[in-house]
Amino acid sequence: MKRIIFILLFLFLALGIGVYLYLNQRVVTIEQVFPGKIWAKPIENLPDLKGVGAPTAKNCGGCHTEIYEEWKLSTHANALSDIQFQSELAKPSSPKWICLNCHIPVQNQRETIVTGLINGDYFRPVEIPNPNFNIEMQKEGVTCATCHVRLDSESNQSYVIGGTGGTSPPHPVKINRKQLLDRCYDCHNETYTLNESLICSFQTGTELIATKSSESCSSCHQPEVRRSLVKPSLNKPIRTSHKHGFIGGGVPKTFDLYPDQIRLGYKPGIVLSNIKVENNTIEVILTNSNASHHVTTGDPERFYRLILVGIDRFGKTIYKEETTIGQEWTWSPVAKKVSDNRIPYKNSFLWKLDRPNLPIETYQFQAIHVRLKNITSDYMVQSSGYVSSPYKEQVEKMKDLYPHSSLIIESQYQLKTKSRKDTPLEELFKRNASRKGE
Ligand code: HEC
Ligand code: HEC
Ligand code: HEC
Ligand code: HEC
Ligand code: HEC
Repeated sequence: MKRIIFILLFLFLALGIGVYLYLNQRVVTIEQVFPGKIWAKPIENLPDLKGVGAPTAKNCGGCHTEIYEEWKLSTHANALSDIQFQSELAKPSSPKWICLNCHIPVQNQRETIVTGLINGDYFRPVEIPNPNFNIEMQKEGVTCATCHVRLDSESNQSYVIGGTGGTSPPHPVKINRKQLLDRCYDCHNETYTLNESLICSFQTGTELIATKSSESCSSCHQPEVRRSLVKPSLNKPIRTSHKHGFIGGGVPKTFDLYPDQIRLGYKPGIVLSNIKVENNTIEVILTNSNASHHVTTGDPERFYRLILVGIDRFGKTIYKEETTIGQEWTWSPVAKKVSDNRIPYKNSFLWKLDRPNLPIETYQFQAIHVRLKNITSDYMVQSSGYVSSPYKEQVEKMKDLYPHSSLIIESQYQLKTKSRKDTPLEELFKRNASRKGE
């Protein structure tokens, strides 16, 4: 009797361990864990494109020279080499394969193919080597093929998605402008809670839709220009084309990108509508006139810092006030939005201050668009041990290498004459190229 109980106990235990091991080693498909999420998988491996070869940006650039040069200066082209991205990617808490799905979104850019998740756990991907891995293309970040190249499942051939039509390319093309324009939403309009402290919160698309504007992201971020779509030697007609610099908040990823921001389409979202100095109060009014989404938008860490200083007749600063426009989040123990005073499209922000009783002759107002806070980059420098070469060395020097913010509005208000003088944007961007920190 005793023996039977022992055997039964043993069998029960073995079964338990077996079931435990089975459940814990079970490979679950990505679709089951992230149903309907486009960013959960890269775009499938793309075979060579007829008339082009490998679908790399560099190859596209062989003919589409100007578009390629513009794209190379974009944040998209820097989406992998971005020092901040590399620093965050290296954190042990980052599910790297998910991050890479939006920052290098084509399977050809990836060393491995993720075939499933052990026990459905996104920290335990099952990975096999990718036979079509292209190391050149990996470096290209959000490369041309992200938006433009797909696999025709019937012919098993790659083709280009175009938006113009009536053109004569040497490569297969299917015209679907809407698909091209809608592509932005896949990455720029996602809010998803992965776990308590890992939340992605990009609402730019929802913000645009709420304005009922008929504009697309590209209307502003890919300004129109008349030109040939390809290099002159191919003798193609002048057509309506779109700049591919994808300029956003005017804080580029490296200092040497500053000189191209305005040429490629940078415009501040906010406009200084008024500075009013009355008997007891000062009012500064900013209006979101240029961006059909909130400003700031996208990454929750971004904000505008507003600075008002008072200068006396000797040119000395005798008064200074600051405030911010943006979101505030706490990230631990759980990620949570604490406050949000961003400006929706066509709305205004009123900054009201008590007028100081000081011999001020001139007020100077500045708006600074901040992408990265000093305390955040301090922390990144401290934890650079997680990052591997060559990015480690860059993260260590990121205070010098990485633009944290840009000055986007500066205006002087003379009390006596009640006159206002705005510093031209070109001048501000010359200064930005050598401004460091927040
Ligand atoms: C060998 C030269 C060459 C290469 C390489 C090349 N293209 Fe083209 N492409 C052309 C020409 C020529 C046109 C047609 C221009 C015209 O008729 O005005 C064109 C047209 C296009 C169009 C517009 C089609 C339309 O009607 O909207 C897109 C989009 C495009 N190419 C994308 C790409 C992408 C992406 C790559 C790289 C994967 C690429 N091309 C590589 C020569 C090239
Ligand atoms: C596959 C994902 C993906 C798609 C699709 C995509 N983007 Fe992006 N975009 C990114 C990533 C990632 C970054 C930021 C990279 C970084 O900062 O390292 C970015 C950055 C930008 C920025 C720069 C913001 C700044 O201040 O520097 C703009 C503007 C932008 N995208 C516009 C667009 C538009 C317009 C479209 C559609 C035509 C689009 N994006 C489609 C992933 C995507
Ligand atoms: C009517 C023009 C307009 C449209 C439409 C528009 N944007 Fe913008 N966007 C701007 C302007 C202007 C800025 C610069 C804000 C600033 O620096 O003050 C901007 C900034 C951005 C930024 C940088 C955010 C920041 O605070 O640094 C991103 C990312 C962006 N836009 C993405 C998009 C996407 C995605 C869409 C479509 C869903 C879109 N935009 C539609 C005008 C527009
Ligand atoms: C983030 C998405 C995105 C990326 C990356 C991208 N494009 Fe485009 N491209 C578009 C969109 C959207 C349009 C259509 C704009 C419209 O019609 O309003 C377009 C249009 C074009 C056109 C048609 C002519 C024109 O200027 O409208 C060509 C050619 C082209 N792209 C080539 C390229 C090449 C080459 C690259 C890489 C160097 C590239 N694109 C990268 C989104 C992208
Ligand atoms: C759904 C697509 C998506 C995923 C997944 C994603 N990102 Fe991004 N990431 C973006 C977009 C879009 C931007 C640009 C946002 C903007 O400019 O407002 C961006 C920008 C960034 C930036 C630059 C922020 C800045 O202000 O310049 C960093 C750093 C970053 N991502 C890190 C990560 C890390 C780490 C992961 C994985 C935990 C990750 N991303 C996953 C889409 C994505």
